[in-house]
Amino acid sequence: MEGDFVMRALLVDPAAPAGLRLGSAPDPEPAPHQALVRVTATSLNYGEVASLVPGAAPGTVLGWDAAGHVERAAADGSGPAAGTPVVTLGEAGGWAELRAVDTQFMGVVPEGADLGAISTIPVAGASALRALHRVGPLLGRRVLITGATGGVGRYAVQLARRAGAYVVAATGDPGARGELLRGLGAHAVVGDPAEADGPLDGVVDLVGGRQLVAAYEKLGAGGVLVSVGHSGGDDEHFPHGVLYGDQGRHDRAVVSFYLLGCGGLGRDLAWLAGEVAAGRLDAGEAWRGSWGDAGVAVEALRGRRLHGKAVLEVG
Ligand SMILES: NC(=O)c1ccc[n+]([C@@H]2O[C@H](COP(=O)([O-])OP(=O)(O)OC[C@H]3O[C@@H](n4cnc5c(N)ncnc54)[C@H](OP(=O)(O)O)[C@@H]3O)[C@@H](O)[C@H]2O)c1
Repeated sequence: MEGDFVMRALLVDPAAPAGLRLGSAPDPEPAPHQALVRVTATSLNYGEVASLVPGAAPGTVLGWDAAGHVERAAADGSGPAAGTPVVTLGEAGGWAELRAVDTQFMGVVPEGADLGAISTIPVAGASALRALHRVGPLLGRRVLITGATGGVGRYAVQLARRAGAYVVAATGDPGARGELLRGLGAHAVVGDPAEADGPLDGVVDLVGGRQLVAAYEKLGAGGVLVSVGHSGGDDEHFPHGVLYGDQGRHDRAVVSFYLLGCGGLGRDLAWLAGEVAAGRLDAGEAWRGSWGDAGVAVEALRGRRLHGKAVLEVG
C-alpha cells in the first residue's frame, strides 16, 4: 500500500499551520474521460481556503485551479495530447503534482506561457467571464463589480471594460485600491454600491449581504444582478419597497451562479489563457511563492490582507 503514495501534494492537516502541509498521496487514477496532468502551478481562491480547508477530512487533496502539461491523454480520445500545456479546473485535486481532470474542464495554453499566471484563470477568470455573459450585452451598458479587488473582481473589471461597458468598481478601501482598479479599466471606483451612479444595467456581486441589496437598488429597468459570491458572510435583507417595480423597474432580476454547473468551459479557459499569455489580461497576481509556503498565503487571504490571486509553484 505504501508504494501507492508517491506524488507530493498539499494535504489538509488540522494540526498544521493554516491547516495544510506538504506530504504524499496516492497518484490519481484518471477515468476514461480524464487526462492526467503534471501540475506546475496552482492558485488559491478565497472560497476554498476560507470554507473548504477547515471542514475537510485530514489527508484530503483540495484545489480547484491548476496549470501544467498533459502527462497522459484521456483514454476516450477527448482532450489534448501528452505534452500539451493546459489550464485545468476541478472540484479538488489541484494542489498536487499530478491531477486527473475531466477534459471538458481543460483549456490548451500557448506554448511558453507563464503557467503561474495562467493558473489564476480557472475559478477567477472563468467566473468573471460567465457572470458577465449572464448580465447580457455590455456595449454601452453600465456595470458594477463589487469585491472588485479580489481574484474574480479584477478579471471582471477588465473583461467588462473590454466588452464596452462603463465600469463601476466597488472596494472597501477606494483610497488605497482605487488606482489599481482604474488601472484595470474601472471608470469609477466607489466605497459602497450605494454610491454608484445609476441606473445600472448589470451587477456582478462578489460580496453579498448589504452590498447585494444596495446594488440591486441601483439597477434600472431590465437590469440583472448576478450573485456570484458571498465574501461578506452576511444575510441579505430586502427592506419593504425595494422590490417595488416603480419607475418602470418591474423586470429587474437577481440570478444565482455556480461555475462548475456551466457547460463548455474548456473553450473559455483556452481563450482566457491566450489573453493572459499575450499580455491583454492581467492575471491579478498579488503573491507568488513555493507551495511549501502555502500557509503564508492562506492566512493572508483569510485575513483580507491579500487582495487578488496567490500563486503556488508546485514541486
Ligand atoms: N458561485 C461560484 O461559482 C463562484 C465562483 C467564484 C467565486 N465565488 C465566490 O465569489 C467571491 C469572490 O471570490 P474571489 O476569489 O474573488 O475572492 P477574493 O479574492 O477574496 O475577493 C473578494 C473581495 O471582496 C471584498 N470583500 C468585501 N467584504 C469582504 C469580507 N467581509 N471578506 C472578504 N472579502 C470581502 C474584498 O475586497 P475589498 O477589501 O477591496 O472590499 C475582496 O478583495 C467569494 O465569495 C467566492 O467564494 C463563487
